[in-house]
Amino acid sequence: AAVVEHTFVVSQVWMTHLCKETLVTVVNGQFPGPAIEVTEGDSVAVHVVNKSPHNITIHWHGVKQRLNCWADGVPMVTQCPIRPGQSFNYRFDVTGQEGTLWWHAHVSCLRASVHGALIIRPRHGARSYPFPKPHKEVPIIIGDWWDMDLDQLDRNMMDGYFADSQTATTINGKLGDLYNCSGAVEDSYVLDMEPGRTYLLRLINAGLYSEYYLKIAGHKFTVVASDANYVNPYTTDTIAIAPGETVDALVVAGASPGRYYMVALAIQPPAPDHQLPFAITRGIVQYRSNSSAEEEEEESPSGDVIPVVPDMPDQHDNFTTFYFHGNLTSLHQPRSLPVPAFADEHMFITLSLGSICRRGESCERSGSNESIIVATMNDIAFQPPTAVTASLLEAHYYHRNDMAAAAGVELRTLPDTPLKVFNYTDSDFISWGPKEARLEPTERGVPVRRFRHGAVVDVVFQSTSVMQSGSNPMHLHGHDMFVLAQGIGDYDAARDVARYNLVDPQVKNTVLVPRLGWVAIRFVADNPGVWYMHCHFEYHMSMGMVAVFIVEDGSSPDISLPPPPADYPKCDPAEQLDDQ
Ligand code: C2O
Repeated sequence: AAVVEHTFVVSQVWMTHLCKETLVTVVNGQFPGPAIEVTEGDSVAVHVVNKSPHNITIHWHGVKQRLNCWADGVPMVTQCPIRPGQSFNYRFDVTGQEGTLWWHAHVSCLRASVHGALIIRPRHGARSYPFPKPHKEVPIIIGDWWDMDLDQLDRNMMDGYFADSQTATTINGKLGDLYNCSGAVEDSYVLDMEPGRTYLLRLINAGLYSEYYLKIAGHKFTVVASDANYVNPYTTDTIAIAPGETVDALVVAGASPGRYYMVALAIQPPAPDHQLPFAITRGIVQYRSNSSAEEEEEESPSGDVIPVVPDMPDQHDNFTTFYFHGNLTSLHQPRSLPVPAFADEHMFITLSLGSICRRGESCERSGSNESIIVATMNDIAFQPPTAVTASLLEAHYYHRNDMAAAAGVELRTLPDTPLKVFNYTDSDFISWGPKEARLEPTERGVPVRRFRHGAVVDVVFQSTSVMQSGSNPMHLHGHDMFVLAQGIGDYDAARDVARYNLVDPQVKNTVLVPRLGWVAIRFVADNPGVWYMHCHFEYHMSMGMVAVFIVEDGSSPDISLPPPPADYPKCDPAEQLDDQ
């Protein structure tokens, strides 16, 4: 096993898209940032140098960070942020995981431009893939281009109003030929394929806002993995991918030689969809035979051929994504962990919206701007810790009995069951709800749940009829989850437990809760630390759909959290969090 080292210099650069120069925060001058490629079992050391004016943390999305919560990269939860001018070495192992993961900034909305792929290859080389060895592997990152300051975007979201527009959707940083200004067409992402060859696309949805449908005209995909866990091969012409998810899919260049559009289309709720911008982008897949590659350098003979356009699902179609996610099952591997047959703890978490009074103002007074909209789990909206002297993880590690005081925040227990029950009508599921949902007053705090080491935990995530605007990709740090079942409407234990897949459930770090539906997951709380659990839609996260799971140490040192690394960033209450 090797040590793979990278230096990430975070800085601001000017980039021009849509005829506008925008100052963007990126790693090593690149958008998207550099890919990290490792072999399973390697150690990774990333030296993050913060030359930007923002506080920064980097999260290694999906890396389990076994006994290494210190490197998980969540500001004020697992570490104090890396302040401007400072640096920090993230060190972690990638053991027992292979496939596609990614990394991203976990501070405000900066992950829109601070992200990249994290590719973990099998220890014994590509020949040990449980599928035919591909000719090439290609990361495909779907993202957003924002021509506004991302800190401002985050403040808007925390104040409960949506940004005006995300401006554009990108594939590997390119906006594509649907976007232009003053007659100038944006560059498209172009993937060259040799006829007859097989390609492994490593898809990542790094977008802040939307689930996407991805298609390539004239081609089918065979999905082989998701969230760095192999799945039984699943053939489809449409991939659905939610923010935070990764999907690995094989594509055979078996169509007639030519050019084909690769289209990413944002999935939206049934109308009215005024909150979300229309978003689509397209790249180009073009066939080239290897022998003629050089002579084609100066001019591609197929360059003028108009690419074939795929027939996309309707952008308001919420069912294709439901079935795509429901149809995947995990591939049994020697390393596959068995699904525990029973759970020790059961939680029922409603995902919803609520209203809250603006700081220092009375909500008794009338007026529309008195209260703001927040996003909740069991009716609690996460209050980001500010002005604290230690991260929650340090507070947990050093001051177990007085964690809240050490972290300077109010901890609240995330209840097992919702505080309120939301009932549906059938029409909620096929269209926009019949009435404007009323937002109930709610509260802020840091919702926390503690688990003893090794506890098997069941969680049912239930979306509510107030949450009509979309699905909820729920991401748990530090653990993978077994996806036992999903459904539309209200979860009903008497009916639904019998449907749990305990044989070959998908294993995911980000689980999609369908719009107006539910998903049941099971995980083993066996990684000591303080772990973020949140919706990966950035506005839901900024608006408060976040909880913290604390996993206690095990009974011996080898299953207990070791001390922090020597260069662990110190909190400075006077200086930090000017970003917020
Ligand atoms: Cu990819 Cu906590 O996030």
